[in-house]
Amino acid sequence: MCGIVGAVAQRNITPILIEGLKRLEYRGYDSCGVALHVDGRLQRSRSTSRVAELESQIQEGHLEGFTGIAHTRWATHGAPATRNAHPHFSPTEENARIALVHNGIIENHDELRRELTDLGYNFTSQTDTEVIAHLVDHMYNGDLFETVQQAVKRLHGAYAIAVFCREEPHRVVAARQGSPLIVGLGNGENFVASDAMALAGTTDQIIYLEEGDVVDLQLARYWIVDVDGRPAEREVKTVHAHTGAAELGPYRHYMQKEIFEQPRVVGDTLEGVTGIMPELFGDQAFRVFKEIDRVLILACGTSYYAGLTAKYWIESVAKIPVNVEIASEYRYRDSVPHPQTLVVTISQSGETADTLAALKHARSLGMIHTLTICNVATSAMVRECKLAYITRAGVEVGVASTKAFTTQLAALFLLTLTLAQVNGRLTDEQEANYLKQMRHLPVALSSVLALEPQIIAWAEEFARKENALFLGRGIHYPIALEGALKLKEISYIHAEAYPAGELKHGPLALVTEEMPVVTIAPNDALLEKLKSNMQEVRARGGQLYCFADVDTQITSSEGLHVIRLPEHYGLLSPILHVAALQLLAYHTALARGTDVDKPRNLAKSVTVE
Ligand code: M6R
Repeated sequence: MCGIVGAVAQRNITPILIEGLKRLEYRGYDSCGVALHVDGRLQRSRSTSRVAELESQIQEGHLEGFTGIAHTRWATHGAPATRNAHPHFSPTEENARIALVHNGIIENHDELRRELTDLGYNFTSQTDTEVIAHLVDHMYNGDLFETVQQAVKRLHGAYAIAVFCREEPHRVVAARQGSPLIVGLGNGENFVASDAMALAGTTDQIIYLEEGDVVDLQLARYWIVDVDGRPAEREVKTVHAHTGAAELGPYRHYMQKEIFEQPRVVGDTLEGVTGIMPELFGDQAFRVFKEIDRVLILACGTSYYAGLTAKYWIESVAKIPVNVEIASEYRYRDSVPHPQTLVVTISQSGETADTLAALKHARSLGMIHTLTICNVATSAMVRECKLAYITRAGVEVGVASTKAFTTQLAALFLLTLTLAQVNGRLTDEQEANYLKQMRHLPVALSSVLALEPQIIAWAEEFARKENALFLGRGIHYPIALEGALKLKEISYIHAEAYPAGELKHGPLALVTEEMPVVTIAPNDALLEKLKSNMQEVRARGGQLYCFADVDTQITSSEGLHVIRLPEHYGLLSPILHVAALQLLAYHTALARGTDVDKPRNLAKSVTVE
């Protein structure tokens, strides 16, 4: 999703802006651009290609400057086209006085556009961003910082913006409301960016701006005011952000690499867990866990499916009722709050706008006990929650989440055991057994990944299909949902997941010889029920592709293709089964020749609602 970088310095900042954009590429984008203050004029370069292309364009044009802003855009208002790419200029390209980049969505852009058109402004893009550029130009009073403070009062919606002005060559002004923005402090130079990773290697002195903040960046000083225009002190943190994605090594795509990293990162996430201790979730965790009598999980996409899996775990082991909600639904619906609720957000990025908004909504309803399971320690989600467990998946580059999901599951299982222990539901013997299983997970996961050659053979057949059904029961139903999501995200095959028992209530009508039906068959208490559901498919000529635990004794026969997983892994079995489904999606997409790491229309970090 959109990314911002800006700088005011006494050296050519083009390499810093380009490097920053490269570090933000993982979020997904469809166009990019840079604007600089060059010899008393504003100049820009924009591209609908990759940042590397923009870099060549800039080098060819010898675009250099000391003050400037840059952006990666993920289209919301207006198609991915050069005219819609940021930075936007105002009043015109030829006579540009204001340059501006924006993340977020301005809800009252139509009204502002009409007003500014009546004032004589000519719009060259379809974006809501150009409205802000013209608004700032129209309100400009010779002091950009004051102007921006006044202008943002007219905006409804979510924004992070960075602006500079022809008349004030050593100044960048930025503001945020609902979209993340950080300030980076240098020596005689200052920076702004969407996240600290964009500035890795440039500065590690980071300020996280708060909602409503406006910041004035000059060469040797910065100044922040809060939403009411009062001077605001914000803590400067030393942040050792990741310096970007690791090399691909022997892998063809980051997604493949990340799938194969899972044994290590699941191990890393559980490293040091020698016993069940509430303090692993924060100093106050024991007191909070004692106080709560229910759990509300808020998340989106893959993280939501991790939450659904956790519901099965927490209710069966800790005996605490759990409600799992899609964040974008929860934030807008009337629900019945309960103060003794543990609100758990799950997020890979920690910046997902819907999840952050749902968390704030829950808090506004009086639910103050908040915990996040998150992969980014410096993210807004971690800062907003009282308690946290940081998964150690490392940077996930592939838009389709894989290792973030399995590490979330590992952390959620730990949470399950912790809640059970605090509730007096975990004997020492059970604790020891579960811990042993958790420690063995990396080995068990590796044996699933070793099935890759068999999965490739299936993928070649799947690549020719346009539809697929995924079936699972009980704790593996969320895994079927995740398997279907992975397949549709990267191969563009239409895939649906159902609890196998639901098949006869409707989806069975879809089943023909043309319909591959992926079935997750663990050797658990529901196995016999699942076998009956598989018969329902076979009786209609459907082709079953079954991932079966070796101890189920399910074997291949006509219309039933079987890949055998290791012996049943009890409650942790979903972590093994999902790895097989990730490989199926990956190799199917590979066979179809799609852009696996950057699937069309999708972004890694969804920072708008
Ligand atoms: O960063 P988050 O975990 O909050 O992101 C949530 C979803 O946007 C994310 O899981 C998305 O569904 C992925 N593309 C799934 O592969």
